[in-house]
Amino acid sequence: MAEHIRTDSEREVFLGPDELIITKTDPTGHITYANRVFMRLVDYSEKQLLGRPHNIIRHPDMPRGAFRLMWKTLQAGNEFFAVVKNYTASRSYYWVLANITPDTDINGRLQGYFSVRRQAGRSAVETIKPVYAEMLRIEQATDKASAPDASMNWLLQQLAGQGSDYESFILKLYAGQDLQQEAES
Ligand SMILES: Cc1cc2nc3c(=O)[nH]c(=O)nc-3n(C[C@H](O)[C@H](O)[C@H](O)COP(=O)(O)O)c2cc1C
Repeated sequence: MAEHIRTDSEREVFLGPDELIITKTDPTGHITYANRVFMRLVDYSEKQLLGRPHNIIRHPDMPRGAFRLMWKTLQAGNEFFAVVKNYTASRSYYWVLANITPDTDINGRLQGYFSVRRQAGRSAVETIKPVYAEMLRIEQATDKASAPDASMNWLLQQLAGQGSDYESFILKLYAGQDLQQEAES
C-alpha cells in the first residue's frame, strides 16, 4: 500500500465519551468485523473495510516499532494496550486508547484478534507524542529492515532505565485517563 502523504491541514475528530470502536481481524490482521461507531468515525462502509488489512487507517506519525511490539506481544498470546493515532477515510485523524487481544476458540486455537478502543485523553496523547516522535526519528536514521526493532528496543530500554516496562507505562496512562474522566464528569 502506498505511503500516506501528510498535510498540515489534517483535522482531529473525536469519539464520544461513552463510545467504543470494536473491530476483529483474521490472524493476518485483515478486518473481519467493524462496529457502526468505527464505520461512522472513519467514514468507510462495511464493504470497504471487510477483508482489508487493518493498516488501511495507519497514520504516518505512528512508528513501526509500536506495531512491532504489538505483534510480538499478541503472538506471545498476550493482550496489548497502546495509544494510537489513526486516519479516517478523508485524512482526518483521531487518537484512541486501544486494547487488542488474541481471539481463540475453546481448544485454544487462534481465530484472529479482537480490538476495543475509546477516546484517548489529552494527557495520554501529550505523553505519547514525544515518545512516538523519537521512535520515528530513530526509524528514519536506521535502515528500513532494522527500523521497527531499533525504535521498539529504544522504547523498552528507556522504560527499563526508569525501572519500568511497557505494560506499567501504558497502564499508568489508562489510569490517568480514568481520573481525568472522573474529574470532568
Ligand atoms: C485487531 C487489530 C487491530 C488493529 N488496529 C490498528 C489500528 O487501529 N491502526 C493501525 O494503524 N494498525 C492497527 N493494527 C495493526 C495493523 O495490522 C498493522 O500491523 C499496522 O497498521 C502497521 O502497518 P504495516 O504492517 O503496514 O507497517 C491492528 C491489528 C490488529 C490485529
